[in-house]
Amino acid sequence: MRKPLVVGNWKMNGSRLSVSELLAGIVSGSTELNGIEVVVCPPYPYIPQVESLLKESRISWGGQNLSAEAKGAFTGEVAGLMLRDFGCKYVIIGHSERRSLYFESDQLVAEKFVAAVDAGLIPILCLGETLSEREAGITEQVVARQLSVVLDKVGVAELAKSVVAYEPVWAIGTGKTATPEQAQDTHAFIRNKVLELDAGVGSHLQILYGGSMKPSNAEELLNKPDIDGGLIGGAALESEAFLSICRAAVNA
Ligand code: PGA
Repeated sequence: MRKPLVVGNWKMNGSRLSVSELLAGIVSGSTELNGIEVVVCPPYPYIPQVESLLKESRISWGGQNLSAEAKGAFTGEVAGLMLRDFGCKYVIIGHSERRSLYFESDQLVAEKFVAAVDAGLIPILCLGETLSEREAGITEQVVARQLSVVLDKVGVAELAKSVVAYEPVWAIGTGKTATPEQAQDTHAFIRNKVLELDAGVGSHLQILYGGSMKPSNAEELLNKPDIDGGLIGGAALESEAFLSICRAAVNA
């Protein structure tokens, strides 16, 4: 049985004030969230604030990115051990915004996966196709390629230390959600790829859906057999919306 996981990706949003208000709301509603794991991923400067506000709570936190390097002369970069130093448990790897806006290649994403595991973080590995790739009918080829570059580098046993997030790029921040059936099909495809290599890893792997998940569609998505949670952007910035998605995960 896979534990549902709901992750809020705040992206480049927030202030000291909004972080404390948002977390106050989430923490007060979190007592009813039994049987699931809840995570927030703030921008780097707010991680110490999040740590101090969440350390007595049942909510975990993580980074949105990390360097592939462990330390040294890499101006502007943040190492996995620094995230660990501030209590991060997770880190998002290969988000489509990193891949497209900051030109992160499949290879770099695989290196970041290694850096995350080496630092003791759980990578949330994002996979997903663009609109033109979906329209060309190559969704499965794209996610298979993105996954296989990581698998070739680390092996299937290491994948057991991670979480996968399927995020169709055309659904991120656009208000367009993959239908529950479209999402389920790709989740099942990803799981089968891993099952072929290792039945134990494949059956335990948590695969999250991301892309305009919100209170109105969360229940239907989260009730699909291979959707084990959500990676939430916009709706993670409002405590009531985020909690409502968390409650849908509890009930799924
Ligand atoms: P969204 O973002 O929920 O705003 O579509 C999801 C994500 O990018 O992780």
